[in-house]
Amino acid sequence: MAKLAPRDLAQVLSRLPEQPANPDVLVGYDTADDAGVFRLRDDVALVQTVDFFTPIADDPEVYGAIAAINSLNDVYAMGGIPISSLAIVCFPRNGDLEMLSLILKGGQQAMNEAGVIVLGGHTIDDAEIKFGYAVTGTVHPQRIITNAGAQPGDVLLLTKPIGTGAITTGIKRGVVAPETAEIAMRSMMQSAREASRLMQTLRASACTDVTGFGLLGHAYEMAKGSNATFRIESVNVPLLPDTLDLIRQGMLTRGDVNNRDYVGEEISFGANVSSEMQSALFDPQTAGGLLISLKAEAADSFMNELESSIIGEVVPLKEKLLAVF
Ligand code: CO
Ligand code: CO
Ligand code: CO
Repeated sequence: MAKLAPRDLAQVLSRLPEQPANPDVLVGYDTADDAGVFRLRDDVALVQTVDFFTPIADDPEVYGAIAAINSLNDVYAMGGIPISSLAIVCFPRNGDLEMLSLILKGGQQAMNEAGVIVLGGHTIDDAEIKFGYAVTGTVHPQRIITNAGAQPGDVLLLTKPIGTGAITTGIKRGVVAPETAEIAMRSMMQSAREASRLMQTLRASACTDVTGFGLLGHAYEMAKGSNATFRIESVNVPLLPDTLDLIRQGMLTRGDVNNRDYVGEEISFGANVSSEMQSALFDPQTAGGLLISLKAEAADSFMNELESSIIGEVVPLKEKLLAVF
């Protein structure tokens, strides 16, 4: 999917000159969070995010819908409510316009189902199709859920299984069973709206959505931002069907190397964690689940309402930010 390596991106950002100080910037790009947050008034802040990528599904409507859900999830991950969006379209000049209208239709339907209006967009001629959205939402400035608030004693909850990177790579190479592909597509089309509402009600301490940096890449950012260590029980991490098999067959993306490189030395693996499992935990996700840090009682209430898994716990900062067993 030709995403810039997170380490390279971090380096580029660190070279940028500082912007003028502004007290209304509540979340900027320095903490690698899901979306930026800007205070408009004491009781309302804007949540803004943008994401687009190359086709992830054969069905153009499904591709459009997944692109919409993926962008919306960054607002949900901050505890925000999305309100409007703009489409970003890269499409070949001589491309099939019927296909483009189906991509836009799938995306718009998913936006409208979330109560979000598409205000417009921008198209550009490009040999390779790319599609996504910039989304704007709102949040109360005191109710922002960042990736930097995890507290020792919290448990870590994950709302979707892992494996979309390996599966979509396998689909492109024709080695994925149709049932598996179907399950992965359905998972990517599942919105984080309810999960976001629930974590607000239950006062979660931190959250991020699991996307391109993989479960461990995003867990690393959250642990780093929170100045705590995350202990992750790999046996409790839910996987999509056939994920480990596909990884064994070599269905790895560049994300596998890039994401490991990003986390670097800040991780220790128990001897029980197989190399396939390590790759699964680094597998880049599209429209992945929310990784939520919250009190154990709140996690119980969460799991009563929404299918999700406890995959680990937050402990005071140790030698490494991540310990995986
Ligand atoms: Co995100
Ligand atoms: Co994001
Ligand atoms: Co994003």
